[in-house]
Amino acid sequence: MGSDQGGTAKGRTMGVRSGIAVDLGTVNSLVHVHGHGLVVEEPSVIALDRVSGRVVAVGHHADELAGREPAGVEVVHPLRDGVISDLGAAADMLRAFLHRARFHASALRPHAVLCVPSGATPIERDALLAAAAFGHRRLDARLVDEPVAAALSAGANPGSAEGVFTLDVGGGTTEAAVVVGVRMVAYRSLRFGGNAMDEAVGRAVRQVLGLRISQKDAERLKIELGVTGGERGSATVVGMDLTTSSLEELEVDGDVVAAALERPVAAIADAARELVAAMPPDLAKDVLNSGIQIAGGGALLPGLAQRVEKEVGVGAVVVDDPLRSVVRGAGRLLEESFDSLEKTA
Ligand SMILES: Nc1ncnc2c1ncn2[C@@H]1O[C@H](COP(=O)(O)OP(=O)(O)OP(=O)(O)O)[C@@H](O)[C@H]1O
Ligand SMILES: [Mg+2]
Repeated sequence: MGSDQGGTAKGRTMGVRSGIAVDLGTVNSLVHVHGHGLVVEEPSVIALDRVSGRVVAVGHHADELAGREPAGVEVVHPLRDGVISDLGAAADMLRAFLHRARFHASALRPHAVLCVPSGATPIERDALLAAAAFGHRRLDARLVDEPVAAALSAGANPGSAEGVFTLDVGGGTTEAAVVVGVRMVAYRSLRFGGNAMDEAVGRAVRQVLGLRISQKDAERLKIELGVTGGERGSATVVGMDLTTSSLEELEVDGDVVAAALERPVAAIADAARELVAAMPPDLAKDVLNSGIQIAGGGALLPGLAQRVEKEVGVGAVVVDDPLRSVVRGAGRLLEESFDSLEKTA
């Protein structure tokens, strides 16, 4: 559960307008309720009964079953590369999260701000609207590009003319964008993020050390060692030795992980560099002043911000609380300037 208790006492007691802001991410889903702040923060995972399709577990409980599926249970990640890949599962998952958020709309058409990757196609945007409609039929749902939400959480104002450069490194997408107010001026969207880094680390450990490790352990190595080797320069991991077929504990050197992360990290820095090079001069001045704001869980990768800064030649900072920045910005839009978002059909 999150601790962000946004909203005013007036908003809570008078129920001025019920509404939600939702960041349905590839790895994590977050829900902000008007007047209450962040109330749901769960992995984007659902476990379903293979025969009946019944929901067995959602969020943390479903994630615990991943990789150790009991018979008859299928663990589904309904999003891939930032967008919905399994509409039925996404709709079931979102409905469960809204229930968990105790979202009982008092208004006739409750407001909803739904975060979407900037590179999402119209069909992918429609899928998100459809999943939300399944969660609550009468929502007045509006889409916000994730970089816009990230920029608002980094302190930008919806009515401001100042340019903000955000780099959101999520689990399934990486988005670099220049945002002015509630609109993007330019963006680069990559369909990979932290999950692809985990896969690269898992592959490297298999190839260099001959050890097969779980996705969760690959993620842990990435988080501990990053591109700098972390504090210790190495980390231990338990996996299946491919030659002896026995469980082994090995020390993984930071260099192995850094080499595996080189390609994705270089591609992320390239996207930021290309965008800076394409910016109109007036915006470039704003960006030089405020720097590149790095958001999303990937912002926490040891060494990423320094690498981006070095390659782009512009200061880079990790935003406050990067895993929650998108939902926080969306919550701000919900509470402060919902009407600035375009209506959807
Ligand atoms: N300390 C850390 N260091 C490196 N990576 C981290 C750290 N903490 C979390 N991550 C990574 O961040 C990713 C999840 O970030 P986030 O919640 O922003 O993604 P998401 O919003 O679900 O995905 P997307 O926006 O791409 O749909 C995971 O790949 C996770 O491994
Ligand atoms: Mg995200």
